[in-house]
Amino acid sequence: MPELVKNPRVMRKAQAELHESLQGKPTVTEDDLINLKYIKLIIKEALRVHPVVPLLLPRECQEPRKIMGYDIPKGTTVFVNVWMISRDPKYWDEAETFKPERFEAGTVEFKGTDFEFTPFGSGRRMCPGMTFAQANMEQLLAMLLYHFDWELPEGLAPSELDMTEEVGITLGRKHDLYLNPFARVPMQAAP
Ligand code: HEM
Repeated sequence: MPELVKNPRVMRKAQAELHESLQGKPTVTEDDLINLKYIKLIIKEALRVHPVVPLLLPRECQEPRKIMGYDIPKGTTVFVNVWMISRDPKYWDEAETFKPERFEAGTVEFKGTDFEFTPFGSGRRMCPGMTFAQANMEQLLAMLLYHFDWELPEGLAPSELDMTEEVGITLGRKHDLYLNPFARVPMQAAP
């Protein structure tokens, strides 16, 4: 949501797709998600710039290795800095820009085999909740954008929004996000 508020073009494009696809339906259901291509790209881009588990789970090196010139002895605890890799200009064009379209070609996925993009990790300890999380994020975001328009509190420009993050095992916003919702499609229970 903060990235969408900071990037009104992206917010408008997502809402346009939703309204075109749902055609006034009372609410967003799981079946609608299939046609919502742009929401999926937004979620991927959000996971790229704000990976939820920025250093993944710790690994232990099973045999001595040399990585990028460094000797890694057996038994070393290794953290993979996904946050850094996800913003590395070596792999990402305009790495600091929030641009969901970068995933349009569908060549980079978060299934654990594209090592420049592993917000759910990779290998045996990869997140088992990935598809559950994906469905939840898509439906929640779709509902927020379908039923409401969102504005920053008066006097605050999108460029002034504080994006400071707080790092722990998981990564989140340091300060809560306050937005004003304006109802657009009144909420009704799905038939
Ligand atoms: C946006 C949502 C989520 C993200 C980005 C995420 C990300 C991750 C990451 C990066 C790991 C570590 C993987 C690794 O080190 O290779 C992990 C582990 C795990 N996740 Fe998730 N996760 C999410 C949601 C969920 C949900 C909804 C569930 C359960 C319903 C879940 C259950 C787990 C469990 C049990 C592990 C530990 C797996 C293990 O140690 O073998 N996660 N997750």
